[in-house]
Amino acid sequence: MATGLGLPESEAELAFEGALRPQSLAEFVGQEKVRGQLQLLLQAAAMQNRTPDHILLAGPPGLGKTTLAMIIAHESGRPLRMTSGPAIQHAGDLAAVLSSLVPGEVLFIDEIHRMARSAEEMLYLAMEDFRIDIMVGKGAGATSIPLDLSPFTLVGATTRSGMLPNPLRDRFGFTAHLEFYENHELEQVLVRAAALLELNVERRALAEISGRSRGTPRIANRLLRRVRDYAVVKGSGAGLDAVNAALELYDVDALGLDRLDRAVMQVVLSRFDGGPVGLNTLAVSVGEEAETIESVVEPFLVRIGLLTRTPRGRVATRSAWKHFGLTPETPGAATLFDGDL
Ligand SMILES: Nc1ncnc2c1ncn2[C@@H]1O[C@H](COP(=O)(O)OP(=O)(O)OP(=O)(O)O)[C@@H](O)[C@H]1O
Ligand SMILES: [Mg+2]
Repeated sequence: MATGLGLPESEAELAFEGALRPQSLAEFVGQEKVRGQLQLLLQAAAMQNRTPDHILLAGPPGLGKTTLAMIIAHESGRPLRMTSGPAIQHAGDLAAVLSSLVPGEVLFIDEIHRMARSAEEMLYLAMEDFRIDIMVGKGAGATSIPLDLSPFTLVGATTRSGMLPNPLRDRFGFTAHLEFYENHELEQVLVRAAALLELNVERRALAEISGRSRGTPRIANRLLRRVRDYAVVKGSGAGLDAVNAALELYDVDALGLDRLDRAVMQVVLSRFDGGPVGLNTLAVSVGEEAETIESVVEPFLVRIGLLTRTPRGRVATRSAWKHFGLTPETPGAATLFDGDL
């Protein structure tokens, strides 16, 4: 994604993320509630010698869904198979994966809301009875052959749990809703990352990065990398000055808003006088997919109280006007921003 927000951008970025992924629940920072819930669920399954219940991980990008899926497999000592919704275009794709699982395997389906409908239906039966029906032939002569599967644990991840059909959502024994991280938690993530990367960064510099990371560990780690780059190139230490300079260079403001966040707010504020604005109009105005706006940009803007969702559309809050130094009546507010969009 060109926005630098959600998805990893390059091979280097992926390797970097991999190196920093916590391996156990104990190493996983924050999300206390979810951690406790998962711990209990895994322990109960281990004591009863059965596969853990199916688990759905829901929340905005970069909060640790993939990381948790890996931890679930690791902590329960089971192999992990990874696939994703977009890779499952036909029921047959899913049948191939399901029928080759080894007993007890953890099957991780990322972006599970993007799986084909026909596969979803196959998954219902597989999750419930560890069985699928394979259709052979076409038309009047078609028959279905039942196939027993090895017991497995499905871990699904989604940035849009609202898009999952109810029958699928209901078949998960547990849904973990990941929340944005508090600044002190992100600081812990950064302390750990800096130690792993052997970077010597001032503590208050880490605190500053935390405050600008949109409540998201992936972004915190990424900004840390930009600060490191800056310090290396300028030959400066990694202190507060380096953080401020590096983040200004990368267009990350004091609240952690980046270019796309600001573009969205500017459309709502100056083009639509604070809203309400419909999601699609908003998406077209900033040249992004509606899905990206809804699952990546909005949750954070709503969380920090700049935007609210109403049945008629998105509306800017009073703090939004204030953060952008505008008032609803400001004459010429629109021209102030036109050039930036
Ligand atoms: N609780 C945590 N503690 C420490 N680091 C974390 C935590 N959560 C996430 N991270 C770091 O953030 C990075 C991104 O996390 P992850 O890939 O699990 O996010 P995700 O929710 O799967 O995102 P997406 O929806 O984009 O797939 C990881 O590389 C990991 O280093
Ligand atoms: Mg992921």
